Amino acid sequence: SASLREHAAARGKFIGAAVATSPLANETSYRNIAATEFNQITAENVMKWDTTEPSQNQFNWTGADAVVDFATQNNQQVHGHTLVWHNQTPNWVQNLSATDMRSAIQNHIAKVVGRYAANPTVVSWDVVNEVFDDNGNMRNSFWYQKLGDTYIADAFRAARAADPDARLCINDYNVEGVNAKSTAMYNLVRTLRAQNVPVDCVGFQGHLATQYGFPGQVQQNLQRFADLGVQVRFTEIDIRIQMPRDAAKDAQQATYYRDVVNACLAVTQCAGITLWGFTDKYSWVPDTFPSEGAALIYDANYAKKPAYTAVHDAL
Ligand code: XIL
Repeated sequence: SASLREHAAARGKFIGAAVATSPLANETSYRNIAATEFNQITAENVMKWDTTEPSQNQFNWTGADAVVDFATQNNQQVHGHTLVWHNQTPNWVQNLSATDMRSAIQNHIAKVVGRYAANPTVVSWDVVNEVFDDNGNMRNSFWYQKLGDTYIADAFRAARAADPDARLCINDYNVEGVNAKSTAMYNLVRTLRAQNVPVDCVGFQGHLATQYGFPGQVQQNLQRFADLGVQVRFTEIDIRIQMPRDAAKDAQQATYYRDVVNACLAVTQCAGITLWGFTDKYSWVPDTFPSEGAALIYDANYAKKPAYTAVHDAL
């Protein structure tokens, strides 16, 4: 039967995956699935600040270029992830004065976005990532401590200047349903756009877990953002279970994947869905959430799980 990407394209949506550069270079099965099943990819790590600018104004494009080249060869779009985040950002940035930190953001965005601005493969960016706490307050990150919330508008304006054609997103987790955090995000996006800050898109990460239940009012939540005039998308879907796997957990996970796809399909302005990896062989989940895992649609031997079928059949 047809690939995920063929089904998604027929629906006018993208289906994507985050990719890790080592298996992309070294494993045929990984490379083949990444190429044939997905029409969009995101670099899992190598476009983050610690990789692209490990020391000030010294840029390293090896990993980022490898991902972009792979995508170009396979007729895929790349979503750039991520420009301003509190994690995976070098200490030299965190130790700057406010004035120098503002300049560092400008330079970083100008160089990273600018490198791919004329490249039709790279179409969008997560400009800021995870700026909220779960209660809806601004996250008290080193960015916020030094710059207040001004860094957010500054980052979007810098990205627009570096690539006027790129779609610019704000991205976060635990904002898939209607809750305090997603409402804070909604208010911020509305305020920024009223100030002509170029926010084009909202990314809902979607790191879900079957034991916590499916978020409430996902479609309604996507729609209220869309009604502000922004594109919406799922950017980092994985749906973890408490290990070990069994048939019942696989089946429940599959229904969650189906429901994510259906929420996107139900909202015209939802551009597509990116999974945070595709095989349980390479996933951040077991390293991050003790005793949880098996969050993706292929198992560690590249066999399709019920979640694959659920995504395939929903698309
Ligand atoms: C994760 C990667 O998957 C890991 O390999 C890395 O060690 C840490 O970052 N939200 C994000 C992603 O926006 O960048 C994170 O990716 C997962 C949570």
